[in-house]
Order: sequence, then structure tokens, then C-alpha cells
Amino acid sequence: MTLANPRTGQIRMSADTSAAKSGNPAVTLTDGATGKTFQLPVLKGTTGPDVVDIRKLYGESGYFTFDPGFTSTGACESKITYIDGDAGILLHRGYPIEQLAEKSDFMEVCYLLLHGELPTVSEKVEFEKNITYHTMVHEQLAAFYRGFRRDAHPMAIMCGVVGALSAFYHDSTDIEDPQQRMIASHRLIAKMPTIAAMAYKYSIGQPFMYPKNELSYAENFLYMTFGVPCEPWKPNPILSKAMDKIFILHADHEQNASTSTVRTAGSSGANPFACIAAGIASLWGPAHGGANEAVLKMLKEIGHKDRIPEFVKRAKDKNDSFRLMGFGHRVYKNYDPRAKVMQQTCYEVLDSLGIKNEPLLPIAMELERIALEDEYFVERKLYPNVDFYSGIILKAMNFPTSMFTALFALARTVGWISQWKEMIEDPTQKISRPRQLYTGYTGRDYVPVEARG
Ligand code: ACO
Repeated sequence: MTLANPRTGQIRMSADTSAAKSGNPAVTLTDGATGKTFQLPVLKGTTGPDVVDIRKLYGESGYFTFDPGFTSTGACESKITYIDGDAGILLHRGYPIEQLAEKSDFMEVCYLLLHGELPTVSEKVEFEKNITYHTMVHEQLAAFYRGFRRDAHPMAIMCGVVGALSAFYHDSTDIEDPQQRMIASHRLIAKMPTIAAMAYKYSIGQPFMYPKNELSYAENFLYMTFGVPCEPWKPNPILSKAMDKIFILHADHEQNASTSTVRTAGSSGANPFACIAAGIASLWGPAHGGANEAVLKMLKEIGHKDRIPEFVKRAKDKNDSFRLMGFGHRVYKNYDPRAKVMQQTCYEVLDSLGIKNEPLLPIAMELERIALEDEYFVERKLYPNVDFYSGIILKAMNFPTSMFTALFALARTVGWISQWKEMIEDPTQKISRPRQLYTGYTGRDYVPVEARG
């Protein structure tokens, strides 16, 4: 491979065959300007593409690499989640997402992500007990909520409240102590449903509901969201199962923007509550977790099947910033495996709720059909992603659109905290500090304000 460099000529990258024969694969870089060569080791994972180890590149050659958006850069070593975007494969600790969604439950998936193995019966009981034990939040937090405007977006509240947890739980912020790291992890997983449900209750002016520990994790969240103190609340098993499945499908997704944000924040030694708050902020954007909310807004705006071609045309127009929300993915160049499970869950939920005429579903299905046949989308491998159907399910379950991303944050917390913990426990971990290609002014002298033209 030859990379053109306008200043120094070219850098040639070639496989180092002698190094490969010795069992230590490497590539050789040849600087076209000086003729100097540099050998870079090639590291192999258990599966997936090999990576060229450039850690010593700058020290030895004086070159940085340039990769805005990290499209070709591995930023860490991880054993948690594997994605093959071309084949549409997603594995957590080796287990395919389809099997976990069908056969497992969210608590088990949390354990798996955090600890690396599925729990035994006794480990599962113990883990669920630990999570249940931490579901309540400090009573003073209720006062903290009251500082927000009633019309605040739940994600704005979540960023603030989760960041504030470090002011409430001083006994689990020492990142050097494995016991404290585990307690912080349990607290975050356990309190997130309570925090998200409180954000919702606050926005609609209803009293906060205390968690009920006889309920399952998903049931408890539905109860705290939709229950009221003056009425009995009974779980609907189909909706609880769907909620649990949605949590599983969002639990982790390798080094995406919010997870990388959590790792970057954590790399400086920040406490876990602050790091997860940073992840929530990153997730909020419409190109990431905010997409499920954006999908629903888009389907409503389309309004009727007949208007789909107009929107597809806009999505293809380079002079129009509009994109088909819920389509495309940085990594998947095939069907997002989570989207298929989500589509199935969507039908189950609508069926169980007896919603025969959800007006957005036929629009979504027709949009999917047209986009999958359209040359523009086919050529660019733009398939529906996990967010495409989740919005319809959540809407059918009565969640307001503003809660969709908060739900995503709730489910992703276990992924974030597992990745954070893995990073802290990695002896090679360093503070994240990317470099840049500087294209601004070179040194110039200060001019006093009176002398500036
Ligand atoms: N609609 C129309 N065109 C699209 C779309 C889309 N949804 N997504 C990508 N494209 C086009 C781009 O215009 C570009 O075309 P070009 O090559 O002619 O310039 C090409 O496909 C590649 O797009 P990139 O932006 O380079 O792809 P990238 O990997 O950077 O972006 C992203 C991925 C952000 C997800 C993008 O596909 C997108 O904005 N999708 C809509 C938002 C969305 O659904 N996000 C959810 C992601 S999943 C998640 O976070 C859980």
C-alpha cells in the first residue's frame, strides 16, 4: 500500500515476509523522502482483522497517523464484544446476540458482560440480589430533580443526575479498589432504571415511584415509569419480556462513540459516575442513540406511504442534509442483527397490545422495502439499524419519544461500565491523548489592538 504525502513524497507500506516467517508478523514502512524503513508489528486478535501496532511509529519515524472518526483505528484491546459488520454478526463474550435475545435475560447478559462468563444458578441469584439491593437512590436526589424545569429533556436530566451520583456515593469512587469498582458498577446498573423513570415522572408532574424489589429489572422499570401510588400495578408479561429484550439488544456494542467517550473520560482516572455521565452526553446525539427518537419523528413527518419517494429523494440529495434515520451504520455493511430481533419484537408487542392499525408501521415497512431496493442505499450498503424498529415498539408501549434515548442509556450502562472496568484493569492502559494534523497559522507576532487593520 502506498500513501501519498504532499510534503515528503510517499510512505510505502509492505508486508514483512521475513518477520512473518519468524512468527512475528510485521509490516515495513518505507519513507519515500529519506529511504528509511520502519518495522511495525502486526497483532492478531482471536478473530477479526489484524491490526498494525503503531504505538512506536511517532517515536521512531516522526510521523503521526491521520484518522478522523477512527475509521481504521483500534483504540484498545477488548474481550467483551465482537462485531463483523460485513457478515452482520454481533457476539457478546462469544455468544451471538440472537441466542442471548431469545434464550437469556438482561440480568444474565449484564453478568456476562461484566464478568466474562454466564453465571451459574447461585451466581445469578447473588448478582440479582446485589442489583436489587442498589435500586433505590439517595433521597436527596429527589430535591436535585426539582431544580430542573419540568420540560427538560430526560437526557439532560440523566446527564446531570448520573454525574451527580459521585457527590452521593463517595464510598465507590476509588477506582484503584476492585471492590469499589464493582459496587459502583452494581449501583449504576441498579439505579439507572430508577433515575430514568424519575426523569419521566418529573416531566409529567407525577410523584416519583420507589422501586419494588419483588419485581424483575424490566418490570421494575415499567412499574416506576407507568405506575402511580393510588392504583395497583400489574406487570404485562409480554411487555416486560419485550422491555427485557430491548435492554439486551442495547447492552453493548464495542467501541462506539459513547463507549469510546466513557473510555476516554475514564483514561484520565475520572470516577465511574462521571465517566458514565460523559457516555450519556455522547449517546444523546441523533447520529448515535438519539436516532430512535429521530426515526419516529421522521415517520410522523412522512405521514403516508405515498410520500416516501419524496423523502428517499431528499435522503439521496447531497445538497439536502436530510438522512433516512434508522438507516446506515459505521460498522454494519449488512443487516444489523439487532434490527431483525427488534422487528420481530415489534410485531409481538403490537399483537399483544391489540394494535392492529399502528399507522407508522406500514410506513416503516414500505420505507424499508423501498430503501433496500434503491440503488443508492444498496451501493452504500445502508441497511436498517437497531433504531429503526425500536421507536415503534416504545411508542406502542406508551413511552414518549423523549424517553427513547434515555432507555437506550439505561440499557447501555452495563456495556459502558464493563468497558470502563476492562480499561482500568488493563495494565497497558494510558490516558487517551490523540494528536492532530495542524493546518492553522505558524508562529506570528502579537499585534496590539490599535494597530490591527
Ligand atoms: N441516509 C442517506 N444517506 C446516508 C445515510 C442515511 N441514513 N447514512 C449514510 N448515508 C450515505 C452518506 O451520505 C455517504 O454517501 P457518499 O458516500 O455518497 O458521500 C455514505 O452513505 C456513507 O456515509 P457516512 O456518513 O460516511 O457513514 P458513517 O459511517 O460516517 O455514518 C451513520 C454512519 C452516522 C450511522 C450514518 O449512516 C447516519 O447518519 N445514519 C442515520 C442516523 C442513524 O440511524 N444513526 C443510528 C446509528 S446506530 C446506533 O447508534 C445505535
